[in-house]
Amino acid sequence: MICLGIESSCDETSLALVRDGELIGHTLASQACVHSVFGGVVPELAGREHYRHIGPLFDELLEKADIEAWEIDCIAVARGPGLLGSLLVGVSFAKALALGLGRPLLGVNHLHAHLLAAGLDGKLVYPGLGLLVSGGHTQLYEIKSPDCFVPLGRTLDDAAGEAFDKVGNELGFHYPAGKKVDELAQMAGKAEYQLPRPYLDNDNLDFSFSGLKTAAITLARQEMPKKDWAPDAKAAFCRSLNEAIAETLLVKARRALERLPETRAIWLAGGVAANSAIRRTISELAEANSLRFIAPSARHCVDNGAMIAYAGYLLHGLGYGHGLDFEAVPRGRKIPEDMKKPRTGVLWGRTLS
Ligand code: KG4
Ligand code: ZN
Repeated sequence: MICLGIESSCDETSLALVRDGELIGHTLASQACVHSVFGGVVPELAGREHYRHIGPLFDELLEKADIEAWEIDCIAVARGPGLLGSLLVGVSFAKALALGLGRPLLGVNHLHAHLLAAGLDGKLVYPGLGLLVSGGHTQLYEIKSPDCFVPLGRTLDDAAGEAFDKVGNELGFHYPAGKKVDELAQMAGKAEYQLPRPYLDNDNLDFSFSGLKTAAITLARQEMPKKDWAPDAKAAFCRSLNEAIAETLLVKARRALERLPETRAIWLAGGVAANSAIRRTISELAEANSLRFIAPSARHCVDNGAMIAYAGYLLHGLGYGHGLDFEAVPRGRKIPEDMKKPRTGVLWGRTLS
């Protein structure tokens, strides 16, 4: 069974093919350089870039994987959350392909796909505590099965990745700055700067990173104007940021575990899951509780078509599908639970099998 995955929710256009759970082809066009001059993603530009790249990437993918379009059995696409104009490019392309090839269609939740991506690199263990940390989201889930994600907590304002990107920008790194901050942090001997561990003095599982972002930017401006920044001071600052964010995530993840005694694994995912301090802290939490630590390899942490193809493969295997009428859902709106089971995606009035 070959599933095509299409990802276009933010600033990466990526398509991939998964055959029986194994990745057999992957293409990606990153827009990072288009947006870096603006310090963040410009939605209008993102939509146009997806539109420019998606067709040629599809051709390239078929060639790389050495298959013909008709060999694709199922088409999965990220339907949200994301930038609406960007999502619509991928969703329209997926619907057109499904229609043209007469194949079943699935609109995948981008956040769930991030977490399920670990299945491309190893075994998924349920029930799991899912911690998703990306540029736009910071969420905790109880994951009962590939089709059952129970939300436990989320960020009330900025995501952890947003804090990394904007503070990194202040330090002179281009968007997306998280990777650069992390690289420098690993060169520092110790975290010398005092940064807050925000929004912990409560009993919920939500996050808030806007205060930490502002505190870090203010401290950076006050203490070390960019030009005079000695490399070791900058590294120590990056390490302080890494630790502040990692410890904040740790406290809420530990709290969630206390409430979910059945949990057998901690799943970490999203672009920020590539961060060295976060990976270490959360894997140590798993080890201390005798739980499996599950995380995608670094290349499957960031936005990619492989995670969409893999999620599509799992959900199709469970009998789910969408009709041509499913919608793209922008950030901030709840994704409807409208996948149908048994598979009743209808094309041309025929029930797909
Ligand atoms: O999941 P993702 O590719 O896109 C979203 O859905 O947001 O995550 C991108 C985010 C960016 O904020 C980027 O700076 C961050 O992941 N990131 C990192 C690291 N690698 C990527 N943040 C901290 N440390 C890293 N090593
Ligand atoms: Zn993402």
